[in-house]
Amino acid sequence: MMHTARPKVLVTRQLPESALAPLRAAAELDIWQQPRQIGRAQLLARAADVDGLLCMLTEQIDAELLQRCAGLRVVSTMSVGIDHIDQAAASRRGIAIGHTPGVLVETTADLTFALLLAAARRVVEADRYIRNQCWRDDNRWYPEMLLGRDLHGATLGIIGLGAIGQAVARRAAAFNMRVMGWSRSGREVAGVEAASLNGLLAESDFISVNLALAEETRMLLDRAAFERIKPGAVLVNTARGGIVDELAMCQALRGGRLFAAGIDVFGREPLEPDSELLALPNVVLTPHIGSATRHAREQMASMAVANLVAGLQGRELPHCANPGVYG
Ligand code: GLV
Repeated sequence: MMHTARPKVLVTRQLPESALAPLRAAAELDIWQQPRQIGRAQLLARAADVDGLLCMLTEQIDAELLQRCAGLRVVSTMSVGIDHIDQAAASRRGIAIGHTPGVLVETTADLTFALLLAAARRVVEADRYIRNQCWRDDNRWYPEMLLGRDLHGATLGIIGLGAIGQAVARRAAAFNMRVMGWSRSGREVAGVEAASLNGLLAESDFISVNLALAEETRMLLDRAAFERIKPGAVLVNTARGGIVDELAMCQALRGGRLFAAGIDVFGREPLEPDSELLALPNVVLTPHIGSATRHAREQMASMAVANLVAGLQGRELPHCANPGVYG
């Protein structure tokens, strides 16, 4: 009896069985099940003979890996961001890249607002104040205690007006904020005043970074940009750390140019233990949890599986980041 070989797939994290079912039906799965993320050597070894790869944003899918995996036809990442994948190298090899836009938009916008509010109203600092037993009889309540900034009536500048930036703008409208926005493509969004990047930096009381990391956006907020920021602004980044010069940001937080920051993404993840950010009281830090709700993650997993199955079956990926591979 003739057997047609089933495609081979490496999945770099355990996913919910419900999401995996269509992939189990379509391919032979090798699932990395350890709690530690897969190391580079293991990744190279286990991906060497696969047809498809379902990866996370923690894996570098670079030219070396793509070259070693001669049979690879489709890379599906469980993330919307694809800055960990060498898109040019994948496209040259005709490898389709799947990603997960849409399903994490509202969830990430919610975290953006959580950080805006927490940084502006010093929520984490106030929590530490109580835990460190600074709240005593002699300072129970006083007019200057833990003063923050109002969101209502303030101007929010959104850098990047894609789906997440627009979801942030909708929330800001409900908070009675004036909303300005800048995008690389000059996109017009109802309710958002289009601004130049410099104009936005100069006028915004709050700044939210909501654009993808690409060569053109790397270090977009550099030292010179921080000098243009309105003194006393609050900065929130739920996009990618590489868009912001972290040292310049620390200096701005120390010197008072920034009142506070809420940061979910970093130039290097995990954050290094000697990062100056850890010593600054006016920063709220979260470990890259923009899409971290069960519902969003289940949808991301299902979407990543659907992309991969389509690619293995020779169909166009429902959410393809490099559609040029289809000619
Ligand atoms: C998370 O950062 C993502 O790109 O999905």
